Amino acid sequence: MIESSDLRMTRMPLSHGGGHIPALGFGTLIPDAAVTITATRNALEAGFRHFDCAERYRNEREVGEALQAGLAAGGMAREDIFVTTKVWNTNHRPERVEPAFEASLDRLRLDYLDLYLIHTPFAFQPGDEHDPRDQNGNVIYDDGVTLLDTWKAMESLVDHGRCRAIGLSDISLNGLVPIYESARIKPAVVQVESHPYLPETELLEFCKKKGIVLLAFAPLGHGNRPGPLEDPVITAIAARVGKTPAQVLLAWAVQRGTALLTTPRTAVRAKENFDISPLPEDALDEINRIQTRQRFNEVVKTGSPGFIPQGR
Ligand SMILES: NC(=O)c1ccc[n+]([C@@H]2O[C@H](COP(=O)([O-])OP(=O)(O)OC[C@H]3O[C@@H](n4cnc5c(N)ncnc54)[C@H](OP(=O)(O)O)[C@@H]3O)[C@@H](O)[C@H]2O)c1
Repeated sequence: MIESSDLRMTRMPLSHGGGHIPALGFGTLIPDAAVTITATRNALEAGFRHFDCAERYRNEREVGEALQAGLAAGGMAREDIFVTTKVWNTNHRPERVEPAFEASLDRLRLDYLDLYLIHTPFAFQPGDEHDPRDQNGNVIYDDGVTLLDTWKAMESLVDHGRCRAIGLSDISLNGLVPIYESARIKPAVVQVESHPYLPETELLEFCKKKGIVLLAFAPLGHGNRPGPLEDPVITAIAARVGKTPAQVLLAWAVQRGTALLTTPRTAVRAKENFDISPLPEDALDEINRIQTRQRFNEVVKTGSPGFIPQGR
């Protein structure tokens, strides 16, 4: 499945003629608008060519501005980068999918997307409020639409040449299988939290068998400490191979056959996170034997984003 022996250049093929996704991706879940712009420019300069966005992050305009300026400054073309965004839970009704898609494209200043994802399998009350709540503070869900209804609207975006690939995010294996089986255009990518404390091995095996790319978010455990960055197995390997703990975690993710999304905010960290090289087999085995289990983001259980404060 992996195309290059240089981990930094690894690209994986997407099903349904969806082109290739660079394994090393930059995530734009950055609350501050000015930091979004500088971090996106830094990532592009460091070598990242895969950018993960979402209407829910409320910063597609800033990402679009940074990408446009960065491409021009680096003499790069739109085709040189891979851009993903995601339809939010409040836009699951089929008639809302295409307008949401067009609005994202407009904010990102793009005329096509490489990948469009259903952000979570949970439909929320349709409307402009991203976080609809009742008087008791509970999320208002929408039981008038199924995930398959939304998926069919995603398929027509591919039919019309508006995006090259479609996929799902924050979905369990049990949620993925029925969509996979019913879909006319199979999901090309599944984006979920994954790191050595949440290896998602069963989901990864299913994805590999079906030609789906597993795209790991929070590969550094979202920077949480304690967390994988401070795990003694990771720090010992880092010392042994002369790399940083972050580089060890990112290399492991690519070598086990996932793509990943990391969010370095500074130029120094962008360079560090892009500069990965292969780990020896025994190091991979040691990481695979880590027993600690921890999920840092509960979004997969409720549809409410774990890394975005409520009400934002
Ligand atoms: N589908 C979903 O529901 C979903 C959910 C969450 C995230 N995502 C996507 O996944 C992307 C990545 O997730 P993430 O932000 O959790 O990724 P991450 O890279 O695991 O975590 C980012 C955190 O790690 C720290 N960090 C980055 N590079 C580091 C390094 N070299 N050494 C030490 N610490 C480092 C950062 O600290 P500083 O801030 O101090 O630089 C930041 O706090 C998001 O931006 C978003 O695009 C998707």
